Amino acid sequence: MNTQDSAKRHLWLHFTRMSAYNDTDVPVIVRGEGPYVYDDRGRRYLDGLSGLFVSQLGHGRTELAEAAHRQAGELAYFPLWSYAHPNAVELAERLAALAPGDLNRVFFTTSGSEAVESAFKLARAYFKLVGQPERYKVISRDIAYHGTSMGALSITGLAGIKPPFEPLVPGSVRVPNTNFYRAPEHGDSLERFGRWAADEIERAILREGPETVAAVYLEPVQNSGGCFPPPPGYFQRVREICDRHGVLLVSDEVICAFGRLGHYFGAERYGYRPDIITFAKGLTSGYSPLGGMLVDDRLMEPFNEGTATFLHGITFAGHPVSTAVALANLEVFEKEKILENVRANEAGFRATLERLNDLPIVGDVRGDGYFYGIELVKDKATKLTFDDDESERLLRGFLSPALFDAGLVCRADDRGDPVVQLAPPLICGQEHFEEIERILRSVLTEAWTRL
Ligand SMILES: Cc1ncc(COP(=O)(O)O)c(C=O)c1O
Repeated sequence: MNTQDSAKRHLWLHFTRMSAYNDTDVPVIVRGEGPYVYDDRGRRYLDGLSGLFVSQLGHGRTELAEAAHRQAGELAYFPLWSYAHPNAVELAERLAALAPGDLNRVFFTTSGSEAVESAFKLARAYFKLVGQPERYKVISRDIAYHGTSMGALSITGLAGIKPPFEPLVPGSVRVPNTNFYRAPEHGDSLERFGRWAADEIERAILREGPETVAAVYLEPVQNSGGCFPPPPGYFQRVREICDRHGVLLVSDEVICAFGRLGHYFGAERYGYRPDIITFAKGLTSGYSPLGGMLVDDRLMEPFNEGTATFLHGITFAGHPVSTAVALANLEVFEKEKILENVRANEAGFRATLERLNDLPIVGDVRGDGYFYGIELVKDKATKLTFDDDESERLLRGFLSPALFDAGLVCRADDRGDPVVQLAPPLICGQEHFEEIERILRSVLTEAWTRL
């Protein structure tokens, strides 16, 4: 069988309607170089989503490949179950030094879902250990994505992806997100809107009973729904609320950490102190899978006494090859001043994307750093969105394939209101932003004529 036939017969693509490929080819990406990838027909695409918010340094970095090669030859595998290996130790120390506050303890995983799942289990186990066993509930925001394992899916706020798997883990509660473009209250003041959205968390805590709530899970910039940055003061207010009620604040930085927002951590960019940071994706720029959570010393303390044990582990977590790659990745971040590149160019990225505001279909351009969402609307003046049928035709039927055909990998997502998501590799500069804008302009203009 050729690759297409084999892919269609044997490969199960994630979050994908497989029937969509009955009559069209599965795109097969074969190699990458810098911010570009190439398919099996030799066509080039600008990787405007860094794969899946992963490829911070871009593709084809031989120093990362060599770090993996060297480590596999030295010690390919050993578990972190009661053993350590030098890379895990060094990386944990490095991450603790980069993280804000007293987040000095690292529990490695292989993925973002496992990181969120681990933070969920740690919150429950911690409160049991310190004599507050009734604290088990978790709070997160509408439309926020936190992963697919049963715990992480329970925390996820995308109602549409949950029904096939219900009943989920009980005690998961939703609060509003920070979509200012569609603010249900205080649409005239970002500050007041932010205060309201934070206070909604307190109202949820009080409604549920503060003594039953374990943790709040928030991304620095919420991805799903199309990049909602936090209003000024939002996280500071959430921190106050969490402190008042003894609730843990988990910053889910699976996307936002490692330069996406021009800092190692989103919490640093927005000046707040979480109790746990979950991370994955960009830590290795995708050259090997790795995730984890950074935990405040205070949460680890009860596990440092007597027979106490965090009864949780993952075979491949903190894999020697992945941790070697992560160390090499962070070395390149320093050497090539990757964070500085994002900070120097983010205003240019924003300004370039904002040029698209002259198109009738573009309702809102929002984001921070190298992380943007463009919300599409049917009527700019009223912010009228598309109905399900139009969304289906526009996003799935036209936009996604047309953008790809035009040479841009990005994401047309309708899990909230319809948005195009962009998160290019952190090595990109103005020439790449121009290319993104040019392709989006032409495809979005065509989309408007098809409505
Ligand atoms: C904020 C957030 N949390 C968790 C996850 C889950 O990560 P993974 O797909 O590595 O399991 C994702 C994935 O996109 C994410 O964006």
